[in-house]
Amino acid sequence: MKRIGVITSGGDAPGTNACVRTIARRGFADGVEVFGIFDSWDGLLKGEVRKLERQDVAGIVQRAGTILRSARSTLFLKQGDAKIAMDALTRQGLEGVIAIGGNGSQTAASLLAQAGFPVVGVPKTIDNDLVGTDFSVGFFTAAEVATQALDNLRATAEAHSRVMIVETMGRDSGWIAVEAGIAGGADLVLIPEHEFTLDAICERLRTRHEVHKRNYSIVIIAEGAMDKDKKLDPRRGTKDLNARPRLGGVGTMLALEIERRLGYNARCTTLGYLQRCAAPIAVDRVLATRLSDFAFDLLLGGKSGFMAALAGRDLEAVPLELVAGKTKLVTDDYFRLAEIFG
Ligand code: F6P
Repeated sequence: MKRIGVITSGGDAPGTNACVRTIARRGFADGVEVFGIFDSWDGLLKGEVRKLERQDVAGIVQRAGTILRSARSTLFLKQGDAKIAMDALTRQGLEGVIAIGGNGSQTAASLLAQAGFPVVGVPKTIDNDLVGTDFSVGFFTAAEVATQALDNLRATAEAHSRVMIVETMGRDSGWIAVEAGIAGGADLVLIPEHEFTLDAICERLRTRHEVHKRNYSIVIIAEGAMDKDKKLDPRRGTKDLNARPRLGGVGTMLALEIERRLGYNARCTTLGYLQRCAAPIAVDRVLATRLSDFAFDLLLGGKSGFMAALAGRDLEAVPLELVAGKTKLVTDDYFRLAEIFG
């Protein structure tokens, strides 16, 4: 293989540029031309493809975002779309592609591989919900942002005797909330995977304040979390242009419920895109570099249809069809760790 493409799709995540840089630099070292596909799959169809030069990837390892830009593309949603993408890649003279992204992107990569085009995936999503890899690029930085928010907001919670709620991203899984909840010592961690009721939450807060005589509480909630009785329904609002529920707001709903039921002052801080736009911390830069270097080896070594993955401290190739369309949920034992300190 002498000409390959690299594409970033889905929500941006800290460390994505470190992935692009690694793939480009492996290309320079191994005599392979690496082409950047800009604006994701839609950009591919418009021919937005350009050879990456050394200056394109210089000084980007520490930068958030993606120099290739990203999008939630509608390609690959219909039967036959993989063939359209394959034709577009072939028209560009590309012999293979490395797809850096989360669930949607790895599903697209899987379809492309099934259609017969050489492709390898690199897991990148702050949500860390990709099956097959212990961690995805961007997760640790997002968890760090959330942890710092908990640490900082504790001061205001204590000063004002408030219940301070922090809402993290995490549409279908609560990895960021659990990781930050453990690291930041949250009193309550609420995630989509774990059923809860408003009665039980209020009782725990009441016990903490009335029995244990604490004047404040710290709660962390993932944006996709919903109580058993569906009083807090994060999917109740409008849809975005890709017809996905526009999340963000469940923490504020919870604050209102706590004020109404307990009479405690409650406030919510929604972290939103601050978790995605932060400069990658060292562990994400290194993870991005290792996974992308391995993905390059897989593609050039003829191992199409795999995602580069982290298993413990090791790297392994996981078949894309085992990743596509699945969600890695927070395990019970990990959630229990967050609970015992609450
Ligand atoms: O990257 C995944 C994610 O962070 C989800 O947790 C969140 O719901 C989603 O992105 C929102 O992304 P956007 O508004 O860019 O579509």
